Parts: sequence; C-alpha cells; structure tokens
Amino acid sequence: MHIPADYPDMDKLAAVEKQLTSYPPLVFAGEARTLMARLGDVAEGKAFLLQGGDCAESFKEFHPNNIRDTFRLILQMAVVLTFAGKKSVVKVGRIAGQFAKPRSAPTETIDGVTLPSYRGDNINGMEFTAEARTPDPQRLLQAYLQSAATLNLLRAFAQGGYASLDNIHRWMLGFVEASPTADRYRAMAARITDAMEFMESCGITPETTPALSQTDFYTSHEALLLGYEQAMTREDSTRPGEFYDTSAHMIWIGDRTRQPDGAHVEFCRGVRNPIGLKCGPSLPSDELLRLIDILNPDNIPGRLTLIARFGSDKVADGLPKLVRAVQGGGRKVVWSSDPMHGNMEKTASGYKTRPFERILKEVNDFIDVVESEGAHAGGIHLEMTGQDVTECTGGGREITAMELQDRYHTHCDPRLNNEQALELSFQLAEKLAAKR
Ligand code: PEP
Ligand code: CO
Repeated sequence: MHIPADYPDMDKLAAVEKQLTSYPPLVFAGEARTLMARLGDVAEGKAFLLQGGDCAESFKEFHPNNIRDTFRLILQMAVVLTFAGKKSVVKVGRIAGQFAKPRSAPTETIDGVTLPSYRGDNINGMEFTAEARTPDPQRLLQAYLQSAATLNLLRAFAQGGYASLDNIHRWMLGFVEASPTADRYRAMAARITDAMEFMESCGITPETTPALSQTDFYTSHEALLLGYEQAMTREDSTRPGEFYDTSAHMIWIGDRTRQPDGAHVEFCRGVRNPIGLKCGPSLPSDELLRLIDILNPDNIPGRLTLIARFGSDKVADGLPKLVRAVQGGGRKVVWSSDPMHGNMEKTASGYKTRPFERILKEVNDFIDVVESEGAHAGGIHLEMTGQDVTECTGGGREITAMELQDRYHTHCDPRLNNEQALELSFQLAEKLAAKR
C-alpha cells in the first residue's frame, strides 16, 4: 500500500499547485486522442506498443545526451520490431514527467537513523539527510520545467529530421558491429539493410517520403502524485466537457495504487487520456473486470492498456486467468508486458538488480500465454536507458553481480542498458517473426 508524502507546509503545496494550473499544458488533447486511436490498433493486433525509459527521471541526470540516447534507443528497437512483426510500432517514452515513485514503506532506516523514504525528485531528494528527504513543493515546478524542456527536445528530434530511418538504421548497424553476440543479430540487420536499399532504388528515401524522416513519439508516466496531475488537467477547448491530463499523452496506475475505490482510479476515470493499469500477481480477475468497467465503461479500444508485471516465475501460472476473464467478458484492451517489476533481486553487496534472462523469459512467457488465450500480445513496457550503465546483470556482455558497482546510476530501479535493451528487442523480434 502506498502512503502519500507528508509535506510540512500544505499551504505552500497548495500555492504551487495553483501556479501549475495556470502553466501551459505539456501536451494537446488531440495528441492524446491520436495515441488512443493508435493504441486501438494495438488492441486489435494491428500494431505493437513499445513503452520504455527511466524508472525515475532525476534532476541530476537531466542532460540533452540522456534524452537523445533514450530516444535513439527506442527508435532503433522500434525499427527491429517493425521489421520482424510487420506491424507499425507505437513509441511511448517513460519520459518527460516520470518522477514520482510509489514506496512500500514511508520511512527508511540506515545505521539507526530513520528518515522519510525517497519518493522521486519532484517530491524530495535522494540524499540521506533530513533536509533532502523533506518534501519540497518547489520541486514540482522544477519537474514541470524539466518535463517541458525534455518534451521540446523530443518533439524536435521526432519532427526535425534526426529520426530519419537512415540514421536509425546506421545506429542499429553500429550496435550489431559492437555487440559481443553480433552473429545472432547480423542476419536480421542484413535483411533490414536489403529492404532499405530496395526502397531507395524505388525512390523511397527520407528526402522523398516524410514518413521516413519523421516519427511520432508519445510521453507517459505513472499518475502517482494526484495534486500535480490534477493541476495539469484541462478542459479541452475544442470539446467542452472533456478533460485531459495534459502532463503526458498517456498515464498509468501503479500496482500499489489500483484499488477500485481509491483516489488514483477515481482520478484516471475522469480524464480521457489513454490509461495504463499495472496488473500484478495480487490482482484477482473479478477485481480486474471491475477496474475495467470503471476505467473504460464504453469499452473503447486503446483507452486501457493492461500492463502485466508478474515475475518470470509467476506469469505462466498467474496471467492466463486474467486474460481469460477479459476475453470472456469481451473487453477490448491492450495487453502489454512489464518484465521488470516482478524480477528484482538483491545482490550480496546490496545492489537491486534484474537478471536479463529473467526479463527475457517473462516476455516470452507473456507472449505465449496471451496468444494461447486468443488475445493479442500487444506490447512491452521496459525500464531502460540509452546509457552504458551496469544495473541489470547478464545480456551479451554477461554483466556480473560484482560489476554492478561500476556504473550503477539509477535513481530507483535497475534499468536495461543500451545494449541489453537492443538485444532484448532482437530476441523479441525473432519470437514475433516466428509467430507470424
Ligand atoms: C514502475 O513502473 O516504476 C512501478 C513502480 O511499477 P509497479 O507499479 O508495477 O510496481
Ligand atoms: Co520501477
């Protein structure tokens, strides 16, 4: 169960929230509607959802190179998945607003000292001092400004030519060259190269075809801090009576805050953005159906994405009954797999990590379960970064538990690094291609 942060001065918090209500929206309602339509295609098996980014964005890691590298990574993964699955890939970042973290315990004790838990940079600081850990409303304004600047750069990258298929293809080949398990990926990379050369010889190039030089990229985060989300909610001026949370295109409800009579469900019910719902092993199928009825009473495909996060040892047993209940009830949803949050381990030296093999196994089992129940395995939801960090063990470079200390930078959970994420997408692509 998640307990909200304890602000020492509620008047100051209220003043900041009021200020936010007058700030420009970060996204336009029409964009959220477009994403909903794209996700509707995913629900019907006509497209695939790729959602990923940091577990928690931070003020410290705010840098154009980080934004660029995550964006590049998502684009490369999308090309591989598009080619293999022969479906368009809907790209959604966990970015430009993914700050707040749900915590199971409100406090943390180190060497006999107890302080409030770190809750994300938009609430308090990670440093273990009383000052840093005290919630500060000014951080919400900083998070808004960082989200706006991040989104601005993402829009420029997506529309300004940087996302040209030529570039993405070149970056992808660079990865394959450098990968210690390159042989495994070379064949598919060569087929993508062939396809591009064929298109080019037909005159289909980024210069002649805007679809090859621009892309659509959407943002998302967990709608945890309801004061902030509420302050960012606006009535759509083009459609009176319709409200959108303009802090991101898509928002999701976490596994700890999905109580059907809880505030987070109530908030999301009232906005028209695409909504994600994390589904873990503790969610009974009748409760899931109740949540679907609350969040998507009109059964609109694309409105609701169910994000299964069971753990590689639980998904094969736990997921079938949920998919069966949803299918049996005729509910139209997107099924996506978060293979990160059920696969955490702690190393002997105290690092939280996730083994690459378990992540891959959960995705594979997820696809088998969903498809064998007659539904579409619609997407994946990953914690990953374009940086060369050492946070998850395994992958082509076989990162060991001992090596985690080298570049362990996350502000919350361990992320796949650039190579591990690309390896995952190639291996997932093989699976999707085999299913076709
Ligand atoms: C998250 O996505 O970072 C998260 C906390 O997930 P969950 O709610 O599934 O635990
Ligand atoms: Co996380």
